[in-house]
Amino acid sequence: MTSKRITGGLGLLLGLGLAASQAMALEGDAERGQAAAGTCVACHQADGSGMNVPGGESWPRLAGLGADYIAKQLHDFKAGRRQNASMLAFANMLDDQQIADVAAYYSQMPVTEAQGGDVDEALLVRGEQLALRGDWDEYIVSCKSCHGPRNEGAGSTFPGIASQHAGYIESQLHAWQADERSNDPQNLMGAIAKRMSDEDIRAVSAWLSSQSVASE
Ligand code: HEC
Ligand code: HEC
Repeated sequence: MTSKRITGGLGLLLGLGLAASQAMALEGDAERGQAAAGTCVACHQADGSGMNVPGGESWPRLAGLGADYIAKQLHDFKAGRRQNASMLAFANMLDDQQIADVAAYYSQMPVTEAQGGDVDEALLVRGEQLALRGDWDEYIVSCKSCHGPRNEGAGSTFPGIASQHAGYIESQLHAWQADERSNDPQNLMGAIAKRMSDEDIRAVSAWLSSQSVASE
């Protein structure tokens, strides 16, 4: 019964994602995007790899994320649905066309390797369980049921989380727990994050950041 409800939710979610992306379907130009991304390099790096800053603010990999997903996040920062002081300033510098352009630019870059996370073996085993099978006792759905079979992303609604930085994944799950990030349709991620312990968050982040995504 639980899985039936989730499947229904997914269908609706995909519909919502489609409607949202159509509403802001400005044609992006990767070449113009490169010019507009001049200020982004300081944190997200020239190859879009971002950086895991241990003990500090982690800068996410943008390379290879879907263009519609990237554009949505930039609009969400501007609108305050997603709160982050560093990104608010930079998102505000971009108009709608520039957002479409930088989204096109980063989406066509090959996915870069994450630097891995905490390498405690028991932690990785738990992380793999959550990512691939979930934990029904805790009502945690496997990450791959939305983020794709290898957690490399699915369509423009579900971003790739494999090969993303551990510190960044952790910070996002905590942001959802604290309602600082509440931009996902139907609060699906908020609901999942709130069921996770700090230990589970560390585990799944460490495991995902140690998975490489072969880019075509
Ligand atoms: C001072 C460092 C810094 C600069 C410069 C910067 N960013 Fe970011 N960016 C971040 C941080 C930190 C986050 C994670 C924010 C959070 O925790 O919500 C982020 C997140 C993002 C995200 C969301 C990624 C995801 O996976 O959801 C996008 C898209 C993004 N930045 C695009 C840009 C663009 C485009 C520029 C240049 C116009 C830029 N950033 C400049 C630090 C920076
Ligand atoms: C029911 C579907 C669903 C499941 C299951 C799910 N997610 Fe998500 N997740 C989403 C959606 C949708 C987004 C994009 C939210 C948005 O548009 O801002 C997302 C975004 C994320 C992000 C942000 C990525 C980025 O680049 O900023 C992280 C991290 C994440 N999920 C981690 C997880 C983890 C870890 C699990 C498993 C424990 C999981 N998700 C399970 C739907 C799901």
